[in-house]
Amino acid sequence: MEALELIRSLTARPAVRSFTDRAVPSEMLAQIADIARWTGSARNRQPWRFIAVQDRAHLEKLGTLGAYAQHIASAPCALVLLSADNGFQDTEFDLGKVSQSAILAATALGLGSCLATIYPDDNVAQAARLLQVEPGWLPHHAISIGYPGTPMTGSRAIVSGRLPVEKLLSIHRP
Ligand SMILES: Cc1cc2nc3c(=O)[nH]c(=O)nc-3n(C[C@H](O)[C@H](O)[C@H](O)COP(=O)(O)O)c2cc1C
Repeated sequence: MEALELIRSLTARPAVRSFTDRAVPSEMLAQIADIARWTGSARNRQPWRFIAVQDRAHLEKLGTLGAYAQHIASAPCALVLLSADNGFQDTEFDLGKVSQSAILAATALGLGSCLATIYPDDNVAQAARLLQVEPGWLPHHAISIGYPGTPMTGSRAIVSGRLPVEKLLSIHRP
């Protein structure tokens, strides 16, 4: 497939919040982390770490630590993203970049995924305790990962689709 079409097809894949029971091998999670680690970051700080969670009890608990994090509870695994608690403005931007790399890698491996936001701060602290996160790292987000199951039906609270290019891009002509 032509490179641009490949990028488009991987990027445009909808979020997956429903998974089969099929386990995701740890080697695949390592592959995902190995691709994601090449993501560029401000001053090459690489202000990220990853924790792969595969046991049901921890997945279920994580699924309660964000208002829209329930999909973690039914996923075969979650990649919890740790942000360096370093006060730099770029850190969360860097985390967004590395998440996208991980999601693209997961998609290329035939997996579905969905981000989850862990919040408010009390829940971030609970997730850190649950996963015995080292001081200085904050679990603000996690990615549910698994083989896609039957998509959920019913009305969605969030609109799907994307704004058209004409609405997003204006060419500055001085
Ligand atoms: C920073 C960020 C946080 C997100 N947090 C959640 C979340 O907590 N729960 C959830 O179900 N989806 C979450 N999502 C997924 C978005 O809802 C999803 O990307 C968006 O609705 C587009 O979905 P689509 O690609 O299926 O159209 C998050 C996405 C991003 C980029």
